[in-house]
Amino acid sequence: MGKAIVIKIGGSLLFKDNNRIDSDKILEFCNIIKNKDKLNNLIVICGGGIIARDYINAVRNFTTNEALCDTFGIDISRLNSRLLISSLGDVSYPQVPKSMEELSIALLFNKIIIMGGLQPGQSTTSVAIEVAELVKADELVILTNVDGIYDKDPKKSKDANLLPHLNYAQLEELILKDTGNKQAAAGEYRIFDLVSLQILKRSNITLLLMNGSNLTQFKNYYNGQRLTIGTRISK
Ligand code: UTP
Repeated sequence: MGKAIVIKIGGSLLFKDNNRIDSDKILEFCNIIKNKDKLNNLIVICGGGIIARDYINAVRNFTTNEALCDTFGIDISRLNSRLLISSLGDVSYPQVPKSMEELSIALLFNKIIIMGGLQPGQSTTSVAIEVAELVKADELVILTNVDGIYDKDPKKSKDANLLPHLNYAQLEELILKDTGNKQAAAGEYRIFDLVSLQILKRSNITLLLMNGSNLTQFKNYYNGQRLTIGTRISK
């Protein structure tokens, strides 16, 4: 049996600074992943990005129901997924799986599967970890707009250092240190939220966090070059 890889592409990478859809970026990403010859399974999870947050903030004006806000985030992540499916064409499964049951059917077709959120109360990172656990993925790649995990918030501290390796316990310590009240609000789940951490801890998944703002690193990784990049998190 070949390898299985799960990739989460953060919503921030799908939109330009002016909040318009970055079609060139989507095309570039899809061209990189199009060839999955060496892989048994390839599943990509799309985030919601600025558009999801815009919808969530608008819905908050009408309701205090965070779960309802989450459903808007989920819908947008699925719409973003459909953009990638359109770009990939025949090499991808044509539908966005909306549950683990639908995913298990999609897996039978040996195509690239693109999906978004599943249920309220979590982030697309949680989905990526749940899916990686289900398909027993060899690796889970999280593409985001920062270089990896730092010992301190790099936006606040100039002396923050990128952490190239972390084990699950070290990651937990960092998340708990950094957890504020907004952690569990719709649209506010950080790169790593507590739901993601709990699922990760019971799995044995190796997670690679890398910057997808420029896809060269990711391209090299996908084409088999094992470079030390971003943050590698393992048990
Ligand atoms: P994310 O916050 O995971 O997308 O999902 P993102 O924009 O890629 O986030 P970054 O780039 O990692 O920061 C968008 C929103 O959709 C809802 C949540 O409200 C989430 O903040 N969502 C997503 C769910 O409620 N459940 C899911 O399974 C996934």
